[in-house]
Amino acid sequence: MLRSRRSNLAVPGSSPKMLDKARGLPADQVFMDIEDAVAPLAKPDARKNIVAALNEGGYEGKVRVVRVNDWTTQWTYADVVEVVEGAGANLDCIMLPKVQTADQVVALDLLLTQVEKSNGLEVGRIGIEAQIENALGLINIDAIAQASPRVETLIFGPADFMASINMKSLVVGEQPPGYDVGDAYHYILMRILMAARAYDKQAIDGPYLAIKDIEGYKRVAGRSAALGFDGKWVLHPDQVAAANEVFSPRQEDYDHAELILDAYDYYTSAAGGAKGAVMLGDEMIDEASRKMALVISAKGRAAGLARTTTFEPPSA
Ligand code: GLV
Ligand code: MG
Repeated sequence: MLRSRRSNLAVPGSSPKMLDKARGLPADQVFMDIEDAVAPLAKPDARKNIVAALNEGGYEGKVRVVRVNDWTTQWTYADVVEVVEGAGANLDCIMLPKVQTADQVVALDLLLTQVEKSNGLEVGRIGIEAQIENALGLINIDAIAQASPRVETLIFGPADFMASINMKSLVVGEQPPGYDVGDAYHYILMRILMAARAYDKQAIDGPYLAIKDIEGYKRVAGRSAALGFDGKWVLHPDQVAAANEVFSPRQEDYDHAELILDAYDYYTSAAGGAKGAVMLGDEMIDEASRKMALVISAKGRAAGLARTTTFEPPSA
């Protein structure tokens, strides 16, 4: 099933108040952080807060994710063991940051399998979200995507990525000063999107840090949405509605997609004349139109849109 992940809300695990507030926000996914939003001394408590919050519930309808620390630290194994032993039944995915090689995904898969087995949890149910945050991770992205059937998403981590490639900028989402010949992020976004589509994963864009600038958020989110990304991080409640709007199809596009599907279904049938390419209004539609319409229709349905038009076959 396609899990809707238009808005991916980041919540520091060190804040019980924010963990609680996330329950009432209309984000498609909530991810509780033990990594970069949590200071080293606060990580042990963050694990406990997260286990308590997940077990208390209230996140129904959202994808429930915990971001653990990356494998180069000393914290990853304890993050996974404590969170999954404590709340594995109430958790959908583990987010693994700064993934550099397929081995790192395999290591998480193996650890998850052991913790699931020893705790009577269904083996393989907990998914993996892989953050691509440096050059090595991007170069290895195809192998990372295929490293485990648990992998559900490939996520762009712009802040760490900019640091990792020595980009001359401190402002996530904006072009680096001095680069005036295009979009400096285009290659990275497209590379992630190609791997996601090739291996049937969701492609997720990362954070936009200027949380008060909702127009800026929409502008940057609109670019990755236009390319085909499925969603983007949100760091603040005000960004949630913007993400849900930008990553949902517009009502008119959704209606049009449903119309194409119905019309194409009819015209390719015996009753409709078994035609392969037909006119729908002023537009010629064929099998490729149906494939494009399927994408918009699936995103619209996952976003809970209801169609406002119906297809009427021409009367004989
Ligand atoms: C997110 O983790 C980022 O580094 O942008
Ligand atoms: Mg990061």
